[in-house]
Amino acid sequence: MGYNIAIDGPAGAGKSTIAKKIAAKLNFIYVDTGAMYRAMALYMLRNQVDPADAEQISAVCGDADITIRYENGEQVVLLNGENVNGLIRTEEVGNMASSSSVNGDVRKKLVELQQKLACTADVVMDGRDIGTCVLPDADVKVYLTASTAVRARRRYEELCARGEECNLKQIEADIQERDHRDMTRELSPLRQAEDAVLVDSSDMTIDEVVDTIVSMCRK
Ligand code: DC
Repeated sequence: MGYNIAIDGPAGAGKSTIAKKIAAKLNFIYVDTGAMYRAMALYMLRNQVDPADAEQISAVCGDADITIRYENGEQVVLLNGENVNGLIRTEEVGNMASSSSVNGDVRKKLVELQQKLACTADVVMDGRDIGTCVLPDADVKVYLTASTAVRARRRYEELCARGEECNLKQIEADIQERDHRDMTRELSPLRQAEDAVLVDSSDMTIDEVVDTIVSMCRK
């Protein structure tokens, strides 16, 4: 078993930015579980699956082979052998991922892959259910959050920087809808594990958050 750091939290809390930096500092592998749900969602979108049709999602997910590879320290997600890293960061895919991830068959398949990765290496893994379900025995558990306004602003700036057209009010509404769905779904809803440390990054710099979490690992 490797050393496991679990970071959960709502959309836009800064999980991936923080987790990547921690991984680089500690020489751990960064596992982005959201990217796996996004790859699965891309497959659903390509197959014109209705996000509300659970049966269809269960049926289609069996045909999606999702694997992970590391290239120059970066996680590459392969969907049936195709590198989809450049296709999964849109709001459309994110919203579909939030919908299709309520499905038990989708979760089972991806959780198995995540647990395998954590067994073989020292990992910092981020997602929604890492501390509560995927790695219940993680060495360090963090629930990373920030106010809705701050998270919407960050997402907006990230999309603008990538040249994507976006609207702050729409992003804030999407974030609220996604949080609600992720927190109220039946299977592995987003919640703070009892033994997780709450970190609110609203008024913290990236480095402050990274240092706070790294200091927990040295104890
Ligand atoms: O972190 P993200 O925005 O890339 O995640 C996209 C969606 O995937 C998120 O809205 C819910 C789902 N997800 C999940 O259910 N469990 C995880 N461990 C990670 C993501």
